[in-house]
Amino acid sequence: MNEQGAPPAGADDLMEKVVNLCKRRGFIFPSAEIYGGFRSTYDYGPLGVNMLRNVKNAWWRAMVQLRDDVVGIDAAILSSPKIWEASGHLATFTDPLVDCRNCHERWRADKIGDSCPNCGSTDLTEPRAFNLMFKTHAGPIEDEGAVAYLRPETAQGMFVNFANVLQTIRKKPPFGIAQVGKSFRNEITPQNFVFRTREFEQMEMEYFVPPGEADTWFAYWVEERSRWYRELGIPDDKLRVRHHSAEELSHYSSGTADVEFLFPWGWDELEGIANRTDYDLKAHAALSGERLEYFDQSTGERYVPYVIEPAAGATRTMMAFLLAAYDEDEVGGESRTVLHLDHRLAPYQVAVLPLSKNDALVPLSRQVLSALQPLVMCDFDVTQSIGRRYRRQDEVGTPLCVTVDFDSLEDKAVTIRDRDTTGQVRVPIDALPEEIGTRLV
Ligand code: GAP
Repeated sequence: MNEQGAPPAGADDLMEKVVNLCKRRGFIFPSAEIYGGFRSTYDYGPLGVNMLRNVKNAWWRAMVQLRDDVVGIDAAILSSPKIWEASGHLATFTDPLVDCRNCHERWRADKIGDSCPNCGSTDLTEPRAFNLMFKTHAGPIEDEGAVAYLRPETAQGMFVNFANVLQTIRKKPPFGIAQVGKSFRNEITPQNFVFRTREFEQMEMEYFVPPGEADTWFAYWVEERSRWYRELGIPDDKLRVRHHSAEELSHYSSGTADVEFLFPWGWDELEGIANRTDYDLKAHAALSGERLEYFDQSTGERYVPYVIEPAAGATRTMMAFLLAAYDEDEVGGESRTVLHLDHRLAPYQVAVLPLSKNDALVPLSRQVLSALQPLVMCDFDVTQSIGRRYRRQDEVGTPLCVTVDFDSLEDKAVTIRDRDTTGQVRVPIDALPEEIGTRLV
């Protein structure tokens, strides 16, 4: 059970404002809205898809691109049920479910008190284990032999490909395998917008280490992963690390620390970093009959590596970045809403804005847009007054606006306006790509 801190003042308000902004500005829509929505599922709109991609790219850059000890894979979502038998998910991936005998709603016993949150009745059934795996059938015959499951975590893709990766990339422990992709859990009570949903995206890395080095690498990854959130704009007072108690540990873990964010409802998990020991490799080796171990040719030693796993949620993390970035301030006596998003996460890095709709400005504005599009994600907006358009860009977190005005036609220069300071500078168009590059580092 998570330790819930007291919600900060105005928290509900903040949540409501961010959820509204997400809908109004095209970040996140309730799925199948024209049919009244569908069971807490969400669709990512034109801005949300850019931002979610940026979150995943920032993770991939830190975890794979900037390292020589981690490689990526992209494993199947539907695969052999043997995977889930070996991993323990079929037997133990459950939450405690209770029924309210009065209104017949169902709840997660560990998330409610003694009474039904819907009707207040205390007439609840005894908790029973509810498996969170989504079951389906692969192929045209719906019998037991065709049963398959949507993956509830990306992690197992790394374990079942351990030998393939080892053979093809010639790494030795410590080394990691990373994956970003969708996971599915039949959550009893999805809640808090995209915080807990049945379909979500994970960013996970399995770091294989000599068993004797597991504690050191565990501490390393807790530190490294906390730094990642801070560097991308989560303030220190909204981020903490919480070590699990023994009762809280998952069936595979000998130690877990959560990186937590101060959500509007209190502290809650963004990412879990676990010492999975040799649990998974040994379990898959036992069921498959394959050898899943590392042979060190230099020492003649053969061992099953331990695994340190930083496991983050992309969709949940995107929500945390939005909550942390949301702000309301005053500019020139007018109130504005602004997302102080790190430029690497913002849906657009630059908005190109012709000062007016006047036809004379369009060709040069489009020329500026074409020069910047290969470098960064750009918006192009010609509607409404320039002041309104600045506000619109502030509200979606665009760090820089580039304004093309009538002087631009003569002096071949444009104005760059900064989202956070609202300061403006005049820059020659020829120097614009370089100027944008230095501002967005
Ligand atoms: N492989 C280990 C694992 O899956 P987890 O703590 O169950 O560990 C890792 O999941 C992360 O995935 C969580 O910290 C969270 O960010 C995200 N996550 C898990 N369940 C989720 C859900 N129902 N909705 C959104 N994100 C979820």
